[in-house]
Amino acid sequence: HWTAEEKQLITSLWAKVDVATCGAEALARLLIVYPWTQRFFASFGNLSSPTAILGNPRVRAHGKKVLTSFGEAIKNLDTIKKYFAQLSKLHCEKLHVDPENFRLLGDILIVVLAANYSKDFSPACQAAWQKVVRVVAHALAHEYH
Ligand code: HEM
Repeated sequence: HWTAEEKQLITSLWAKVDVATCGAEALARLLIVYPWTQRFFASFGNLSSPTAILGNPRVRAHGKKVLTSFGEAIKNLDTIKKYFAQLSKLHCEKLHVDPENFRLLGDILIVVLAANYSKDFSPACQAAWQKVVRVVAHALAHEYH
């Protein structure tokens, strides 16, 4: 269900993405814009202000981890449900993350990509990425019951 053009738009932008920086920014923005998401990361130390969150090394490291995982999913678009089955179980059964949060993080990631790669982020590119974040959120929610 992916056209060659969509795949091209996704992989050509992804090749430019700085995973550490954008991952850190995306997770930090999630915690700032939607503060209730902080409760999942209570063990991460100081989340008391936007500045503290943006500079928190554990937020930065985890954001990089999450976006790295996202990048692996992009390489496995046609088998994404299978690819994310274990991770879906982990977020459901162990972490108890409401799947609505996957959608919120996806929207935040779109904002981060648009802000950092504005020249490349054409409407067609955005359309392809909106689809990616929706499919990723859906795959991560797939093992919930
Ligand atoms: C852990 C990926 C969204 C909360 C993880 C891990 C990965 C990951 C790869 C590490 C798993 C391991 O250690 O084996 C993703 C991806 C997401 C996503 C690809 C969406 C694109 C979210 C969201 C939340 C969340 C939206 C909560 C708001 C957590 C928590 C952990 C975790 C609390 C454990 C952190 C720790 O204590 O080390 N996630 N995640 N994740 N994720 Fe996610």
